Amino acid sequence: MCGIVGIVGNTPVAERLVDALKRLEYRGYDSAGVATIHDGAMDRRRAEGKLFNLEKKLSDEPLPGQIGIAHTRWATHGVPNETNAHPHFVDGIAVVHNGIIENFSEIKDDLIAEGACFTTQTDTEVVAQLIAKYRRQGLDNRAAMLAMLNRVTGAFALVVMFKDDPDTIMAARFGPPLAVGFGKGEMFLGSDAIALSPFTNEIAYLEDGDCAIVDHRGAEIVDFSGKPVVRKHQISQATAFMVDKGNHRHFMEKEIYEQPEVISHALAHYVDFATNTVKPVDSAIDFKALRGLAISACGTAYLAGLVGKYWFERYARLPVEIDVASEFRYREMPLSKDQAALFISQSGETADTLASLRYCKDSGLKIGAIVNVSESTIAREADAVFPILAGPEIGVASTKAFTCQLAVMASLAISAGKARGTINAAEEKQLVQSLIEMPRIMSQVLHSIQPQLETLSRDLSKFKDVLYLGRGTSYPLAMEGALKLKEISYIHAEGYAAGELKHGPIALIDENMPVIVIAPHDRFFEKTVSNMQEVAARGGRIIFITDEKGASASKLETMATIVLPNVPELIAPMVFSLPIQLLAYHTAVFMGTDVDQPRNLAKSVTVE
Ligand code: G6P
Repeated sequence: MCGIVGIVGNTPVAERLVDALKRLEYRGYDSAGVATIHDGAMDRRRAEGKLFNLEKKLSDEPLPGQIGIAHTRWATHGVPNETNAHPHFVDGIAVVHNGIIENFSEIKDDLIAEGACFTTQTDTEVVAQLIAKYRRQGLDNRAAMLAMLNRVTGAFALVVMFKDDPDTIMAARFGPPLAVGFGKGEMFLGSDAIALSPFTNEIAYLEDGDCAIVDHRGAEIVDFSGKPVVRKHQISQATAFMVDKGNHRHFMEKEIYEQPEVISHALAHYVDFATNTVKPVDSAIDFKALRGLAISACGTAYLAGLVGKYWFERYARLPVEIDVASEFRYREMPLSKDQAALFISQSGETADTLASLRYCKDSGLKIGAIVNVSESTIAREADAVFPILAGPEIGVASTKAFTCQLAVMASLAISAGKARGTINAAEEKQLVQSLIEMPRIMSQVLHSIQPQLETLSRDLSKFKDVLYLGRGTSYPLAMEGALKLKEISYIHAEGYAAGELKHGPIALIDENMPVIVIAPHDRFFEKTVSNMQEVAARGGRIIFITDEKGASASKLETMATIVLPNVPELIAPMVFSLPIQLLAYHTAVFMGTDVDQPRNLAKSVTVE
C-alpha cells in the first residue's frame, strides 16, 4: 500500500525523503514521487516503477529545499504511470494520499461542473482540487484543509504542503495510519515509525479524525472541526531496527531463517521454560467464561487463524467461528457477549481486519489482537494484545509472522484449555514441552532440507499449476503453501482439503500438475495416503512432505519426498511451514521474480 513521508527540516530534505521511502518499500508500490519548496517555488520529481527510477531523476535534476513530502503509490484509481504518481499539484497545493476517497467521483463531477480541470485519473486529485476551491472562496490554508476533510469520505492518510507557506505541512488521518515524528528543530510525518526511525524515535500516532498542522516548532493536532486534541508522545521501538538483509539475498530468505530465534522470543513471552507451563494471559479475555471465539484476519494471518481454530476446538473445547475479514465485516453475524473475538494481523493496520474488530467491539465482545506491531491501530483498539514478537517483517510474503502467529495461538489454546479444565497439568506440561523444543527442531530442519528444496524448485518452476493437499491442521498449511507459491513465483496454485480432492480438483490431475501433499504421520495419515493413491492412479506427480514415520509407511512412488523429523502433533504446522516456505522461495528465485516485493501485492493493506 502507499507510503507517505513529510519533513519540515533545517537542511535539504529530498535525499532523506527518498531514504524514508526506501524503508516503506516493503509495503508494496508501483510508482513514487517527491516534492519540495525552495525559494518560493514548489517542484516535484515522479517516476513509474521502483525507487531507483526516482533517484535517477533526482540525480539528473536535483530538488533543493528544506521542506518536502514524498510518496510510494500502490495504484487503486488510475494506472501506475508518472501522471498518476503523487504528489499531485493543484494551484500551489501538493498532496500525497494513502487510501481511497470513496465519494471522489461525485466530488469530481461537481468540481468539473464548476470549471475545474483534472489532470490525473486518481481519486486523490479531488483533495487538492477541493482545497484549491475553498482557498479561492477566501478560506486560509488551515480552514480550506478542514473544509476539504469535511467533504471527503472514505479511508485516507493525507499529507498536504502549500507553496505559499514553506514552513508548514498539514496531515490528516481517517483509516490508514500516520505518525508524527518530533526531531530537534525538525518535524516529520510518516506512514509508520520505521520510515522515521533514523530521524527520531519520539512519535505521536494520529487517530481517526485527526488533522495535524506541523511546523518547525512542533505539531498542533485538531479534529476535523478544528477543536484541539492531545495525542500522547511515545518512544518507538522501531529506531533500533536497521533495514538490513544481513548475508541473505532477500528479506524473505532472512526472515525464513530467523524463525527459530524469533519463535523463541515469542514463546518466552507466553510459556515458562523452567516449569513447562503457560504463563497467565491478559485477564481482559476470560477463556473460562467463554462460549465461543470469533476469529478474523486476512491473507496469511487468516490461514494462521484456521490452524488456531483446530487448536482452540481440540485443546480448549471452544467453538470457533472464523472468516476472512472482508466477509466477516459484512456478514451481519449474530454475536453474543459470551463470545470473545480474536484478530490476527502482522501489521495491525489491515483495513478489513480493523473493520471486523470494530463490528465486534460494537457488539460488546471482548477483543484480543494477535499482532506484530504493538503500536498499531488494531493493537490500540483491542482489550488484550498478544504480541507475536517476530520483529519487522519486510518481505511482502509473510513467513516468520505466520509461524509466530501460530506459536502464540498454540500457547493461547493451551492457556484456554487449562482455564477451561479441558487439559490437565500433565497434558499442559507435555504440550508446552513440545513448544519449547520447536525452535531447535526448526533450526535443524532449515539446515537439512535446503539443498533438496533448491533442486526440487528448479523442477517445480517448469509447471504452470500446482495443487497442495492436506488434512487437519495440514489443510490450512496446504492453502498457505499455495498462497506463498502464487504470491512470489506467479505459478498458479491451489490448496485443498485432501478429502475434497475427489469433489473437483481430481479432474485436473495429470502429469502437468504436480500435487504437493503435506502429511505428517498423524491421526489422518492413512486417509491422506489414500488420496495420494487416487492422484498416483491418474498419473499425477506427487511431492510428498512428510516425516520419518510417514516416509517409511508410504510405498508410493513420488517425484520427491521431503522427510522431516517426527514431531509432536501440536508443533507440526510450524515445522512443516519451513519446506513450503523454502519451496516457494527457491522457485521464485529460480524464476527471477521480485521475491521481496512481488508484483501487485502490498504488505500493509490499508484499503478495502
Ligand atoms: C497482505 C500481505 C499478506 C498478509 C495480509 C494480511 O495481503 O501481502 O502477507 O498476510 O496482507 O496482513 P496483516 O498485516 O493483517 O497480517
